[in-house]
Amino acid sequence: MAGERTCGCAMGRRSLFGAAGTVAAVGAVGAVSACGAERPAPQDIRRGQVVGSTDDVPEGGGAVFDQSKLVVTQPEKGEYKAFSASCTHSGCTVQEVEEELIHCLCHGSKFDYTTGEPVTGPAQDPLEAFTVTVRGTDIVLDEG
Ligand code: FES
Repeated sequence: MAGERTCGCAMGRRSLFGAAGTVAAVGAVGAVSACGAERPAPQDIRRGQVVGSTDDVPEGGGAVFDQSKLVVTQPEKGEYKAFSASCTHSGCTVQEVEEELIHCLCHGSKFDYTTGEPVTGPAQDPLEAFTVTVRGTDIVLDEG
C-alpha cells in the first residue's frame, strides 16, 4: 500500500497493529519495534547534538523540544536541567512548563521541574533525567 512503511520483517504497520490488537506505549528508553528490534530513544539519537536554544528556556521555566523529546528547564539563572518529555504514566509527550512544574495534559500528571519527580499523579515514576551543556546559546545533549 502506498505510504505504508514496512520493516525488515516485511509486515506493514497496519498489519502489525491489527495482528497485535494493542499498541504499547513507547517510553523514554529504547523501545522494541514491531519487528522485535530495539529502537533507540529520540534522546539517544541526539546525544552530542544541539537540542535547543537557551533563548527558548526562560529562567524559572522551561521548554519542550519535541524533536529530541526533551524538556529543558532553568530553575536558577544559568542552571539547565533536562528530562525526557515522555510522561511516565502512559507515554504522552509533556506539553508545558508552568509554575515550576512540568505538565502532562493527557491525564494531569505534574513533575517537579528541578528533579523530574512526580508531584501529582497518575504518574508514579520520575521523568528520566539527562545532562546538557550550554555552548553560547546552544543547548547540547551530553554524550551520556
Ligand atoms: S500520559 Fe501523562 S498523565 Fe497520563
